[in-house]
Amino acid sequence: MTETGARDLKALYEEHYSAAGSDAELYGAWRALGARGKADHVEALARALPQAPASIAEIGCGDGSLLGELALRGFGTARDGFELSEAAARIAARRDGVRHVEAFDGVTIPAGDSVYDLAILSHVLEHVPDPAQTLAETARVARAVIIEVPLEDNRSARRISKAGMWDDLGHLHHFSRASVAGFVHRAGLRIEADLTDPLPRAVHLFFARTRAQRARAELKAAARGGLYGLSPRRAERLFTVHYAALCLPAT
Ligand SMILES: C[S@@+](CC[C@H](N)C(=O)[O-])C[C@H]1O[C@@H](n2cnc3c(N)ncnc32)[C@H](O)[C@@H]1O
Repeated sequence: MTETGARDLKALYEEHYSAAGSDAELYGAWRALGARGKADHVEALARALPQAPASIAEIGCGDGSLLGELALRGFGTARDGFELSEAAARIAARRDGVRHVEAFDGVTIPAGDSVYDLAILSHVLEHVPDPAQTLAETARVARAVIIEVPLEDNRSARRISKAGMWDDLGHLHHFSRASVAGFVHRAGLRIEADLTDPLPRAVHLFFARTRAQRARAELKAAARGGLYGLSPRRAERLFTVHYAALCLPAT
């Protein structure tokens, strides 16, 4: 990516986290809802580790909603965040249960080798130019890494892509399970455990305001839940599911 492209993306994230008034409340509630699902995934995958992790770093922690949710659940004892956006880092630093938050250049994490038991990259890798490089740098600072990304190489997401709707979100990649396996391997890691999530009804309903929007969202949630229940692998080729994986050093 060009330097201008990287600057534009950073400006986009700064704008996302600088909302005020009712917008800030709405997006805060949206992120809090998402954080509950993400924390469920982190807790489930961390059970595959030999010991419960104590020190945790989230790279690209945004406004710290996931770190805050993990703190509420008593997951880990020291929780730090590193973030590209200064506006986001300021919000994250104010959360209870978060020890330290630092804004950084998005390339070199300001932490020593293997200082954390666990690092988390939640919905960050689809935003970075070289996911293998970001994952390898994250693995440098922690003994294990949990990643979560949307799998957007599917029929429904390709229609959205054609309509040019990704630009607002800053997604540079639309991953499949195979492309995730590819960059995990290039980062020198292997997948120890993984899971997918078709997202709960509350997520589908969150932005529905009118009765018609709510009815459409209910239908969508029921259809997706039903398809996923029948065949999770087929479902992920049809619509976006969230994919989370525990990654350990390959050797
Ligand atoms: C979709 S948000 C996810 C926030 C949080 N991890 C979560 O799951 O709620 C993506 C975040 O990644 C950050 N980000 C993007 N590129 C980054 C990079 N190279 N290094 C660190 N953070 C980055 C953005 O500023 C943004 O806060």
